[in-house]
Amino acid sequence: MTNAIIIGGGSGMGFALARNLLAEGMDVTIVGRSASRLAAARAELEPAERGEISTFEADLAREEDVAELFAQVERVDHVAVTAADASGVYGRTADVATAIARSVVDTKLLGAWLIGKHAAGKVTGSITFTSGINAYRPNGSNTIMAAANGALASLAYGLAIELAPMRVNVISPGWVDTPIWSQLGMDKQAAFAELAERLPVRRVGTPDDIAQAFLSLMRNGFITGTVVHVDGGHRIT
Ligand SMILES: NC(=O)c1ccc[n+]([C@@H]2O[C@H](COP(=O)([O-])OP(=O)(O)OC[C@H]3O[C@@H](n4cnc5c(N)ncnc54)[C@H](OP(=O)(O)O)[C@@H]3O)[C@@H](O)[C@H]2O)c1
Repeated sequence: MTNAIIIGGGSGMGFALARNLLAEGMDVTIVGRSASRLAAARAELEPAERGEISTFEADLAREEDVAELFAQVERVDHVAVTAADASGVYGRTADVATAIARSVVDTKLLGAWLIGKHAAGKVTGSITFTSGINAYRPNGSNTIMAAANGALASLAYGLAIELAPMRVNVISPGWVDTPIWSQLGMDKQAAFAELAERLPVRRVGTPDDIAQAFLSLMRNGFITGTVVHVDGGHRIT
């Protein structure tokens, strides 16, 4: 039986990926910080699915949590990481609290490094991290998130060499309609409408667009050390 751990699987892109994997009969563990959010996600996923769903409470920014997560794993086929907290990060650099910037780096970049450290030797297939379009198309806000996203690519290249033959990749999403937008304190509908007009595909992304890209990277044993852009053409506009 194939299995997967999705860190950030309680909502958004990670949740969509969990639903797809469970429907294929894979066993899935979703990981997040909030027990109640995980329980709600599990209740939503459980009834219709063929694989088994379990939950694990952990903060990716805390080494003891990441170590504990992988200590209880003997072998896992795939690890997907979608975790990020954007609270307080939207705005110009001068206005963003330094503590927020540190927590972005702790979760997105050091958290990914901690996974490389503690999952080594236990993953048979792939690890896929999630970065984001702002690493390639900065917009004058979220600059620390953009920097962490950019650095994630270098981390993945390094881990792909170091931890081979396990494969390590990054998905860089464009704008996708998920709960993370409620943390940004902006008019989501207006921003989406404006962007959709500019994008070659004429729409923003869905969580399932990203889940499908994760599935491809999990299945294709010849892809490692790369960034896959799933952004509706945002990077080239
Ligand atoms: N949505 C977009 O437009 C967009 C665009 C570009 C890039 N991205 C990136 O795509 C990824 C997925 O985002 P999403 O839109 O699916 O967001 P989301 O719906 O907010 O999901 C993020 C998940 O991560 C978990 N999480 C947050 N911090 C965590 C931590 N420290 N440790 C463990 N779990 C944590 C959250 O659960 P808890 O709060 O319960 O921990 C939540 O379930 C993120 O890396 C984001 O930066 C998103």
